[in-house]
Amino acid sequence: NSLPGTHPLVDGRTSGAPLIRALRGDRPERLPVWFMRQAGRSLPEYRSLRAHHRMLDACVNPEVASEITLQPVRRHGVDAAVFFSDIVVPLRLAGVEVDLVAGRGPVFEHPVRSADDVARCRAEFTPQRLREALEPVREAVRLTVAELGETPLIGFAGAPFTLAAYLVEGGPSRDHLRARTLMHAEPEVWRELLDWAAELSGTFLEAQVEAGASAVQLFDSWAGSLSAVDYRRHVAPASRRTLDAVRGISYRDPLREGYAAGRESVPIIHFAVGSGHLLEELAEVGVSALGVDWRTPLDAASERLGDLLPLQGNVDPAYLGAPAERLEAHLDEVIRRGRRAPAHVLNLGHGVPPEADPAVLTRIVELAHDR
Ligand code: CP3
Repeated sequence: NSLPGTHPLVDGRTSGAPLIRALRGDRPERLPVWFMRQAGRSLPEYRSLRAHHRMLDACVNPEVASEITLQPVRRHGVDAAVFFSDIVVPLRLAGVEVDLVAGRGPVFEHPVRSADDVARCRAEFTPQRLREALEPVREAVRLTVAELGETPLIGFAGAPFTLAAYLVEGGPSRDHLRARTLMHAEPEVWRELLDWAAELSGTFLEAQVEAGASAVQLFDSWAGSLSAVDYRRHVAPASRRTLDAVRGISYRDPLREGYAAGRESVPIIHFAVGSGHLLEELAEVGVSALGVDWRTPLDAASERLGDLLPLQGNVDPAYLGAPAERLEAHLDEVIRRGRRAPAHVLNLGHGVPPEADPAVLTRIVELAHDR
Protein backbone atom coordinates (compact mmCIF):
# COMPACT_ATOMS: atom_id res chain seq x y z
CA ASN A 1 0.00 0.00 0.00
CA SER A 2 1.56 3.22 -1.20
CA LEU A 3 0.72 6.94 -1.30
CA PRO A 4 -0.14 8.39 -4.72
CA GLY A 5 2.34 10.73 -6.46
CA THR A 6 -0.01 13.64 -5.88
CA HIS A 7 0.14 13.29 -2.06
CA PRO A 8 1.81 16.36 -0.43
CA LEU A 9 4.46 14.20 1.26
CA VAL A 10 5.36 12.61 -2.07
CA ASP A 11 5.29 15.65 -4.37
CA GLY A 12 7.45 17.58 -1.87
CA ARG A 13 4.90 20.15 -0.65
CA THR A 14 5.07 19.11 3.02
CA SER A 15 7.99 16.70 3.31
CA GLY A 16 10.34 19.54 4.37
CA ALA A 17 7.81 21.37 6.56
CA PRO A 18 9.06 22.16 10.11
CA LEU A 19 6.36 19.92 11.66
CA ILE A 20 7.25 16.90 9.54
CA ARG A 21 10.99 17.40 10.09
CA ALA A 22 10.52 17.66 13.85
CA LEU A 23 8.36 14.52 13.92
CA ARG A 24 11.22 12.75 12.15
CA GLY A 25 13.64 13.84 14.87
CA ASP A 26 15.19 16.95 13.26
CA ARG A 27 15.54 20.43 14.69
CA PRO A 28 14.22 22.71 11.92
CA GLU A 29 15.16 26.45 12.02
CA ARG A 30 11.63 27.27 13.09
CA LEU A 31 10.06 25.64 16.14
CA PRO A 32 6.81 24.15 14.79
CA VAL A 33 3.66 24.97 16.74
CA TRP A 34 -0.01 23.98 16.50
CA PHE A 35 -2.78 23.63 19.08
CA MET A 36 -4.97 20.67 19.88
CA ARG A 37 -8.59 21.83 19.40
CA GLN A 38 -7.39 24.91 17.48
CA ALA A 39 -10.41 24.51 15.16
CA GLY A 40 -13.37 25.29 17.34
CA ARG A 41 -15.23 27.41 19.78
CA SER A 42 -12.42 29.80 20.72
CA LEU A 43 -12.80 31.36 17.24
CA PRO A 44 -15.67 33.77 16.43
CA GLU A 45 -15.49 32.76 12.74
CA TYR A 46 -16.06 29.12 13.86
CA ARG A 47 -19.05 30.05 16.01
CA SER A 48 -20.74 32.02 13.25
CA LEU A 49 -20.28 29.21 10.70
CA ARG A 50 -21.39 26.50 13.19
CA ALA A 51 -24.56 28.48 13.98
CA HIS A 52 -25.95 27.07 10.71
CA HIS A 53 -24.84 23.42 11.07
CA ARG A 54 -25.16 20.72 13.71
CA MET A 55 -21.79 19.45 14.92
CA LEU A 56 -21.89 16.00 13.28
CA ASP A 57 -23.45 17.42 10.11
CA ALA A 58 -20.61 19.94 9.89
CA CYS A 59 -18.11 17.05 10.13
CA VAL A 60 -19.51 15.37 7.00
CA ASN A 61 -20.05 18.54 4.98
CA PRO A 62 -16.82 18.80 2.93
CA GLU A 63 -16.94 22.58 2.37
CA VAL A 64 -17.79 23.35 6.02
CA ALA A 65 -15.30 20.89 7.53
CA SER A 66 -12.58 22.20 5.24
CA GLU A 67 -13.32 25.85 5.99
CA ILE A 68 -13.26 25.22 9.78
CA THR A 69 -9.96 23.34 9.43
CA LEU A 70 -8.41 26.29 7.58
CA GLN A 71 -9.65 29.05 9.92
CA PRO A 72 -6.96 28.70 12.64
CA VAL A 73 -4.19 28.39 10.03
CA ARG A 74 -5.20 31.70 8.47
CA ARG A 75 -5.67 33.44 11.81
CA HIS A 76 -2.70 32.15 13.86
CA GLY A 77 -0.12 31.11 11.25
CA VAL A 78 0.29 27.73 12.94
CA ASP A 79 2.61 25.13 11.36
CA ALA A 80 -0.14 22.56 10.87
CA ALA A 81 -3.85 22.25 10.34
CA VAL A 82 -5.72 19.61 12.33
CA PHE A 83 -8.63 18.12 10.48
CA PHE A 84 -12.00 19.29 11.76
CA SER A 85 -13.92 16.18 12.76
CA ASP A 86 -14.49 14.25 15.97
CA ILE A 87 -13.40 10.93 17.44
CA VAL A 88 -17.01 9.64 17.15
CA VAL A 89 -17.32 10.41 13.42
CA PRO A 90 -16.16 6.93 12.27
CA LEU A 91 -18.68 5.32 14.64
CA ARG A 92 -21.45 7.58 13.33
CA LEU A 93 -20.54 6.87 9.70
CA ALA A 94 -20.52 3.13 10.40
CA GLY A 95 -24.12 3.47 11.64
CA VAL A 96 -23.80 3.82 15.43
CA GLU A 97 -26.40 6.15 16.95
CA VAL A 98 -24.38 8.85 18.68
CA ASP A 99 -24.82 12.56 19.24
CA LEU A 100 -22.44 15.28 20.41
CA VAL A 101 -24.23 17.17 23.13
CA ALA A 102 -22.99 20.73 23.70
CA GLY A 103 -21.27 21.12 27.05
CA ARG A 104 -21.19 17.34 27.59
CA GLY A 105 -19.68 15.41 24.74
CA PRO A 106 -20.56 12.13 22.98
CA VAL A 107 -23.81 10.44 24.05
CA PHE A 108 -24.82 6.99 22.76
CA GLU A 109 -28.40 5.84 22.25
CA HIS A 110 -27.48 2.22 23.06
CA PRO A 111 -24.53 1.72 25.43
CA VAL A 112 -22.40 -1.33 24.59
CA ARG A 113 -22.10 -3.48 27.71
CA SER A 114 -22.59 -7.18 26.99
CA ALA A 115 -21.24 -9.88 24.69
CA ASP A 116 -24.45 -9.55 22.64
CA ASP A 117 -24.03 -5.77 22.31
CA VAL A 118 -20.47 -6.22 21.06
CA ALA A 119 -21.45 -8.98 18.64
CA ARG A 120 -24.22 -6.77 17.23
CA CYS A 121 -21.80 -3.87 16.73
CA ARG A 122 -19.29 -6.08 14.96
CA ALA A 123 -21.94 -7.55 12.67
CA GLU A 124 -23.75 -4.32 11.86
CA PHE A 125 -21.28 -1.43 12.01
CA THR A 126 -18.53 -2.83 9.82
CA PRO A 127 -15.33 -1.27 8.47
CA GLN A 128 -16.73 -1.94 5.00
CA ARG A 129 -19.81 0.16 5.77
CA LEU A 130 -17.57 2.90 7.17
CA ARG A 131 -15.25 2.86 4.15
CA GLU A 132 -18.19 3.55 1.84
CA ALA A 133 -19.55 6.33 4.05
CA LEU A 134 -16.17 8.08 4.32
CA GLU A 135 -16.35 9.84 0.95
CA PRO A 136 -17.34 13.26 2.43
CA VAL A 137 -14.34 13.01 4.78
CA ARG A 138 -11.99 12.20 1.91
CA GLU A 139 -13.46 15.11 -0.06
CA ALA A 140 -13.04 17.48 2.91
CA VAL A 141 -9.39 16.42 3.23
CA ARG A 142 -8.77 16.92 -0.50
CA LEU A 143 -10.32 20.42 -0.45
CA THR A 144 -8.29 21.34 2.64
CA VAL A 145 -4.96 20.07 1.35
CA ALA A 146 -5.44 21.93 -1.95
CA GLU A 147 -5.66 25.19 0.05
CA LEU A 148 -2.91 24.43 2.56
CA GLY A 149 0.04 24.34 0.16
CA GLU A 150 3.18 23.70 2.22
CA THR A 151 1.37 23.52 5.56
CA PRO A 152 0.78 19.90 6.57
CA LEU A 153 -2.64 18.57 7.56
CA ILE A 154 -2.76 16.35 10.66
CA GLY A 155 -5.41 13.65 10.53
CA PHE A 156 -6.58 12.04 13.75
CA ALA A 157 -8.65 9.35 15.39
CA GLY A 158 -9.73 8.41 18.88
CA ALA A 159 -7.87 5.45 20.33
CA PRO A 160 -9.91 2.29 21.02
CA PHE A 161 -9.88 2.74 24.81
CA THR A 162 -11.16 6.32 24.64
CA LEU A 163 -13.94 5.25 22.25
CA ALA A 164 -14.79 2.25 24.43
CA ALA A 165 -14.89 4.48 27.51
CA TYR A 166 -17.74 6.43 25.86
CA LEU A 167 -19.45 3.40 24.28
CA VAL A 168 -19.66 1.38 27.48
CA GLU A 169 -20.64 4.29 29.71
CA GLY A 170 -23.07 5.62 27.10
CA GLY A 171 -21.59 9.09 27.56
CA PRO A 172 -18.87 11.05 29.37
CA SER A 173 -17.81 9.77 32.80
CA ARG A 174 -15.27 10.74 35.40
CA ASP A 175 -13.29 7.56 35.99
CA HIS A 176 -14.65 5.23 33.27
CA LEU A 177 -15.43 2.68 35.95
CA ARG A 178 -18.00 0.75 33.93
CA ALA A 179 -15.60 0.39 31.00
CA ARG A 180 -12.74 -0.65 33.25
CA THR A 181 -15.01 -3.12 35.01
CA LEU A 182 -15.95 -4.78 31.71
CA MET A 183 -12.24 -5.04 30.95
CA HIS A 184 -11.70 -7.16 34.07
CA ALA A 185 -15.08 -8.91 34.31
CA GLU A 186 -15.18 -10.10 30.70
CA PRO A 187 -11.74 -9.72 29.12
CA GLU A 188 -12.79 -11.61 25.98
CA VAL A 189 -15.76 -9.31 25.34
CA TRP A 190 -13.50 -6.37 26.05
CA ARG A 191 -10.93 -7.55 23.53
CA GLU A 192 -13.60 -7.95 20.83
CA LEU A 193 -14.93 -4.46 21.58
CA LEU A 194 -11.49 -2.89 21.34
CA ASP A 195 -10.62 -4.81 18.18
CA TRP A 196 -13.77 -3.54 16.52
CA ALA A 197 -13.08 0.04 17.64
CA ALA A 198 -9.51 -0.33 16.34
CA GLU A 199 -10.72 -1.39 12.92
CA LEU A 200 -13.03 1.61 12.64
CA SER A 201 -10.42 4.07 13.94
CA GLY A 202 -7.78 2.60 11.65
CA THR A 203 -10.11 2.87 8.65
CA PHE A 204 -10.80 6.52 9.53
CA LEU A 205 -7.06 7.33 9.78
CA GLU A 206 -6.28 5.52 6.57
CA ALA A 207 -8.91 7.52 4.64
CA GLN A 208 -7.47 10.84 5.90
CA VAL A 209 -3.91 9.86 4.99
CA GLU A 210 -4.82 8.54 1.56
CA ALA A 211 -6.73 11.75 0.80
CA GLY A 212 -3.76 13.94 1.76
CA ALA A 213 -3.02 14.17 5.52
CA SER A 214 0.76 14.38 6.13
CA ALA A 215 0.77 13.16 9.75
CA VAL A 216 -1.68 11.64 12.21
CA GLN A 217 -2.40 11.95 15.90
CA LEU A 218 -4.01 9.22 17.96
CA PHE A 219 -6.05 10.72 20.81
CA ASP A 220 -5.91 8.22 23.66
CA SER A 221 -7.42 10.95 25.82
CA TRP A 222 -8.77 8.90 28.71
CA ALA A 223 -5.97 6.31 28.89
CA GLY A 224 -4.66 8.15 31.96
CA SER A 225 -7.33 6.40 34.05
CA LEU A 226 -5.57 3.05 33.50
CA SER A 227 -2.66 1.50 35.35
CA ALA A 228 0.43 0.77 33.28
CA VAL A 229 -0.18 -2.97 33.58
CA ASP A 230 -3.77 -2.71 32.35
CA TYR A 231 -2.80 -0.36 29.55
CA ARG A 232 -0.15 -2.77 28.32
CA ARG A 233 -2.30 -5.89 28.63
CA HIS A 234 -5.80 -4.73 27.72
CA VAL A 235 -5.40 -1.62 25.57
CA ALA A 236 -2.02 -1.27 23.83
CA PRO A 237 -2.59 -4.12 21.32
CA ALA A 238 -5.73 -2.41 19.98
CA SER A 239 -4.03 1.01 19.74
CA ARG A 240 -1.15 -0.63 17.88
CA ARG A 241 -3.66 -2.19 15.53
CA THR A 242 -5.32 1.18 14.82
CA LEU A 243 -1.94 2.62 13.87
CA ASP A 244 -0.98 -0.38 11.74
CA ALA A 245 -3.56 0.89 9.25
CA VAL A 246 -1.33 3.89 8.49
CA ARG A 247 2.02 2.29 9.25
CA GLY A 248 1.28 0.01 6.32
CA ILE A 249 1.16 2.97 3.92
CA SER A 250 4.63 3.89 2.76
CA TYR A 251 6.18 6.37 0.34
CA ARG A 252 9.52 7.54 -0.96
CA ASP A 253 10.47 10.88 0.58
CA PRO A 254 11.54 13.21 -2.27
CA LEU A 255 13.92 15.09 0.06
CA ARG A 256 15.98 12.04 0.96
CA GLU A 257 18.42 11.01 -1.69
CA GLY A 258 21.29 8.58 -2.15
CA TYR A 259 21.98 6.36 0.80
CA ALA A 260 19.31 8.07 2.89
CA ALA A 261 16.61 7.28 0.35
CA GLY A 262 14.20 4.68 1.47
CA ARG A 263 10.58 4.14 2.19
CA GLU A 264 9.02 6.18 4.96
CA SER A 265 5.66 5.89 6.66
CA VAL A 266 3.48 8.79 7.73
CA PRO A 267 4.57 10.33 11.08
CA ILE A 268 2.42 9.31 14.05
CA ILE A 269 1.85 11.33 17.25
CA HIS A 270 0.33 9.65 20.31
CA PHE A 271 -1.34 11.68 23.05
CA ALA A 272 -3.13 10.96 26.32
CA VAL A 273 -4.16 13.27 29.17
CA GLY A 274 -2.89 12.61 32.71
CA SER A 275 -0.59 9.91 31.40
CA GLY A 276 2.68 10.72 33.16
CA HIS A 277 2.70 7.17 34.52
CA LEU A 278 2.24 5.68 31.02
CA LEU A 279 4.88 7.41 28.88
CA GLU A 280 6.84 4.23 28.17
CA GLU A 281 3.66 2.28 27.38
CA LEU A 282 2.36 4.98 25.03
CA ALA A 283 5.72 5.13 23.25
CA GLU A 284 5.87 1.36 22.86
CA VAL A 285 2.74 1.35 20.74
CA GLY A 286 5.14 2.42 18.00
CA VAL A 287 4.99 6.15 17.34
CA SER A 288 7.13 8.95 15.86
CA ALA A 289 6.43 11.42 18.67
CA LEU A 290 4.71 11.52 22.03
CA GLY A 291 2.33 14.29 23.14
CA VAL A 292 2.85 15.16 26.81
CA ASP A 293 0.24 16.89 28.98
CA TRP A 294 1.13 19.87 31.18
CA ARG A 295 1.74 17.81 34.33
CA THR A 296 5.01 16.21 33.22
CA PRO A 297 7.94 18.54 32.35
CA LEU A 298 9.29 17.78 28.87
CA ASP A 299 12.87 17.22 30.08
CA ALA A 300 11.68 14.68 32.65
CA ALA A 301 9.54 12.94 29.99
CA SER A 302 12.48 12.84 27.60
CA GLU A 303 14.82 11.38 30.21
CA ARG A 304 12.30 8.61 30.94
CA LEU A 305 12.26 7.74 27.23
CA GLY A 306 16.04 7.61 26.91
CA ASP A 307 16.01 10.93 25.00
CA LEU A 308 15.01 8.96 21.93
CA LEU A 309 11.60 10.31 20.99
CA PRO A 310 10.47 13.72 19.66
CA LEU A 311 8.02 15.29 22.10
CA GLN A 312 4.97 17.49 21.61
CA GLY A 313 3.56 19.86 24.20
CA ASN A 314 3.02 21.06 26.80
CA VAL A 315 1.95 24.62 27.59
CA ASP A 316 -0.54 24.53 30.46
CA PRO A 317 -3.87 25.80 29.02
CA ALA A 318 -4.43 27.60 32.34
CA TYR A 319 -1.67 30.07 31.37
CA LEU A 320 -3.71 31.27 28.37
CA GLY A 321 -5.67 33.43 30.80
CA ALA A 322 -2.66 34.64 32.80
CA PRO A 323 -0.87 38.02 32.40
CA ALA A 324 1.35 38.17 29.28
CA GLU A 325 4.66 38.16 31.17
CA ARG A 326 3.74 35.05 33.17
CA LEU A 327 2.59 33.23 30.02
CA GLU A 328 5.85 34.20 28.29
CA ALA A 329 7.96 32.96 31.19
CA HIS A 330 6.04 29.65 31.14
CA LEU A 331 6.51 29.38 27.37
CA ASP A 332 10.27 30.00 27.76
CA GLU A 333 10.43 27.23 30.32
CA VAL A 334 8.50 24.77 28.14
CA ILE A 335 10.82 25.49 25.19
CA ARG A 336 13.94 25.24 27.38
CA ARG A 337 12.88 21.88 28.81
CA GLY A 338 11.89 20.70 25.33
CA ARG A 339 15.52 21.11 24.19
CA ARG A 340 16.41 17.93 26.03
CA ALA A 341 14.31 15.86 23.59
CA PRO A 342 15.71 15.03 20.15
CA ALA A 343 13.01 17.25 18.64
CA HIS A 344 10.09 19.35 19.87
CA VAL A 345 6.69 20.38 18.51
CA LEU A 346 5.20 23.15 20.61
CA ASN A 347 1.57 22.60 21.60
CA LEU A 348 -0.69 22.90 24.60
CA GLY A 349 -0.79 20.14 27.22
CA HIS A 350 -4.46 19.56 26.26
CA GLY A 351 -7.01 21.23 23.96
CA VAL A 352 -7.69 24.94 23.57
CA PRO A 353 -10.43 25.86 26.08
CA PRO A 354 -13.49 27.44 24.38
CA GLU A 355 -13.04 30.62 26.42
CA ALA A 356 -9.41 31.15 25.31
CA ASP A 357 -8.60 34.54 23.75
CA PRO A 358 -7.54 33.80 20.14
CA ALA A 359 -5.10 36.74 20.25
CA VAL A 360 -3.13 34.90 22.95
CA LEU A 361 -2.78 31.84 20.69
CA THR A 362 -1.54 34.04 17.82
CA ARG A 363 0.99 35.60 20.22
CA ILE A 364 2.31 32.16 21.23
CA VAL A 365 2.90 31.30 17.56
CA GLU A 366 4.78 34.60 17.03
CA LEU A 367 6.91 34.09 20.14
CA ALA A 368 7.75 30.50 19.17
CA HIS A 369 8.70 31.54 15.64
CA ASP A 370 10.83 34.46 16.87
CA ARG A 371 13.43 32.31 18.57
O1 CP3 B 1 -9.27 21.48 16.35
C1 CP3 B 1 -9.18 20.26 16.51
O2 CP3 B 1 -8.45 19.75 17.37
C2 CP3 B 1 -9.92 19.34 15.56
C3 CP3 B 1 -11.21 18.95 15.96
C4 CP3 B 1 -11.49 18.01 17.09
C5 CP3 B 1 -12.77 17.99 17.70
N1 CP3 B 1 -12.81 16.95 18.59
C6 CP3 B 1 -13.87 18.89 17.35
C7 CP3 B 1 -14.94 19.11 18.35
C8 CP3 B 1 -10.73 16.99 17.69
C9 CP3 B 1 -9.28 16.61 17.45
C10 CP3 B 1 -11.58 16.33 18.63
C11 CP3 B 1 -11.16 15.16 19.42
C12 CP3 B 1 -11.98 14.73 20.55
N2 CP3 B 1 -13.34 14.68 20.65
C13 CP3 B 1 -11.44 14.15 21.73
C14 CP3 B 1 -9.99 13.94 21.98
C15 CP3 B 1 -9.30 15.20 22.33
C16 CP3 B 1 -9.35 15.61 23.76
O3 CP3 B 1 -9.85 16.71 24.02
O4 CP3 B 1 -8.86 14.85 24.62
C17 CP3 B 1 -12.52 13.81 22.56
C18 CP3 B 1 -12.42 13.22 23.94
C19 CP3 B 1 -13.72 14.14 21.87
C20 CP3 B 1 -15.13 13.93 22.33
C21 CP3 B 1 -15.83 15.23 22.38
N3 CP3 B 1 -16.40 15.85 21.28
C22 CP3 B 1 -15.99 16.11 23.49
C23 CP3 B 1 -15.54 15.82 24.90
C24 CP3 B 1 -16.64 17.26 23.02
C25 CP3 B 1 -16.96 18.53 23.78
C26 CP3 B 1 -18.34 18.63 24.27
C27 CP3 B 1 -18.61 20.05 24.77
O5 CP3 B 1 -19.48 20.72 24.18
O6 CP3 B 1 -17.94 20.50 25.70
C28 CP3 B 1 -16.89 17.07 21.64
C29 CP3 B 1 -17.54 18.03 20.72
C30 CP3 B 1 -16.57 18.76 19.83
N4 CP3 B 1 -15.61 18.16 19.06
C31 CP3 B 1 -16.54 20.15 19.60
C32 CP3 B 1 -15.52 20.39 18.65
C33 CP3 B 1 -15.12 21.69 18.02
C34 CP3 B 1 -17.49 21.16 20.20
C35 CP3 B 1 -18.71 21.22 19.35
C36 CP3 B 1 -19.39 22.56 19.45
O7 CP3 B 1 -19.00 23.48 18.73
O8 CP3 B 1 -20.34 22.65 20.25
